[in-house]
Amino acid sequence: MAEPTSQVDPLTPVLTKRWLSPRSWTLQTYEQLEGYTALRKALAGTPEQLVQLVKDSGLRGRGGAGFPAGVKWSFMPANEDRPHYLVINADEGEPGTCKDIPLMMADPHSLIEGCVIAAYAMRSHHCFIYVRGEVPHCIRRLNGAIREAYQAGYLGTNILGSGYDLEITVHAGAGAYICGEETALLDSLEGRRGQPRLKPPFPAASGLYAAPTTVNNVETIASVPFIVNGGSDWFRTMGTERSPGPKIFSLSGHVERPGQYEAPLGTTLRALLDLAGGMKDGIPLKFWTPGGSSTPLFTAEHLDVPLDFEGAVEAGSMLGTTALMVFNETVSVPWAVMKWTEFYEHESCGKCTPCREGTYWLAGILQRMVAGRGTESDIETMLDICDNVLGRSFCALADGAVSPIVSGIKYFRDEFLALCDRGAQAVNPALAGANA
Ligand SMILES: Cc1cc2nc3c(=O)[nH]c(=O)nc-3n(C[C@H](O)[C@H](O)[C@H](O)COP(=O)(O)O)c2cc1C
Ligand code: SF4
Repeated sequence: MAEPTSQVDPLTPVLTKRWLSPRSWTLQTYEQLEGYTALRKALAGTPEQLVQLVKDSGLRGRGGAGFPAGVKWSFMPANEDRPHYLVINADEGEPGTCKDIPLMMADPHSLIEGCVIAAYAMRSHHCFIYVRGEVPHCIRRLNGAIREAYQAGYLGTNILGSGYDLEITVHAGAGAYICGEETALLDSLEGRRGQPRLKPPFPAASGLYAAPTTVNNVETIASVPFIVNGGSDWFRTMGTERSPGPKIFSLSGHVERPGQYEAPLGTTLRALLDLAGGMKDGIPLKFWTPGGSSTPLFTAEHLDVPLDFEGAVEAGSMLGTTALMVFNETVSVPWAVMKWTEFYEHESCGKCTPCREGTYWLAGILQRMVAGRGTESDIETMLDICDNVLGRSFCALADGAVSPIVSGIKYFRDEFLALCDRGAQAVNPALAGANA
């Protein structure tokens, strides 16, 4: 694992640097704080140069999987015989994740500027931003900023006199977790029920309306103007060698000051907890998720795991969406795992059998255990079901669904056993609920 290479104060904010400015969401504030200067530079260069710059920066997708953004952009065909689309994934459905919506609320122009640059690099003239419909305030704010950008000539025809045209359409989803999966998102955007598509073909070959499409996360695209202005070497001064750059970490749960904390990739929960004022009321940490509930749980042993794509995997989990849900010693692990499993059961789109049936049975077993009616064989049955779900389902929702169960049993098997036939004590709902 490479050491962070940062020479400057690693906590100097980049992505969140405007968030506390007065009326940070307005074009006026954005322009006062370097806004749209990167776009001018980008339009003076060629699309190929931009793709190379983003490749050189090492920027990896911030939506969960960490795929290198520049490499993804290079999959888009160079000819323009068909329309090309850029689709921004602003669905933000992973439990505990709360970075894209604050980013769009506080600094929507950074996303819009990133969209214009990315669309230009991929020869796209239409960009869609798919936002979950439960956040009408965010959709209003985004639409307001887009209107301002059109009026100022940053969007529409002949942007800044460059001859380049781009339209942006904001689309409100209906709030289904599966519509964050990029191909389900495309189906939903086309007006169909959101269910994942078979890959290949990948979206770059056949995506929205069967045309070449790139789907990127909000934070990925909002990072682009900073890279254009700062350069790839500057971007690499933050984070680690294989996971460069700054990242927004969402801290929630039993911490004194929950919220969004920007830090370079490779930071640790210990460092983030310091920023967040430590554990709430001083009650010790018991378990936490590094990247939302779809990433295997960590415990207090993992406080110093470097939170970059490699470090999280080496320690047995994944970086996911950097949503750190922190739980103290008062919380029952089987109860928390049950709540997450109920979520996956509800959100399973039903397209494939292992996930549809597996999440149903897993939720049922956990509910019975938590009610104090479990048996020891339930633990092995759950692990067997998880084995039949993981890697055998159509999309990654199912892999995420088994993560809390398998890791919960790995680290806290005794707590599951305590709910079995040894006296069959149900989880005290007051305790579980008080800490929800
Ligand atoms: C069930 C499921 C839900 C997802 N939800 C989101 C989401 O809300 N936002 C997001 O950006 N990516 C989400 N993803 C990942 C996307 O499929 C895709 O990898 C991502 O949008 C690509 O953007 P990036 O390369 O910039 O990270 C989800 C994936 C799965 C399997
Ligand atoms: S794994 Fe689950 S969410 Fe994904 S396609 Fe199958 S049923 Fe749908």
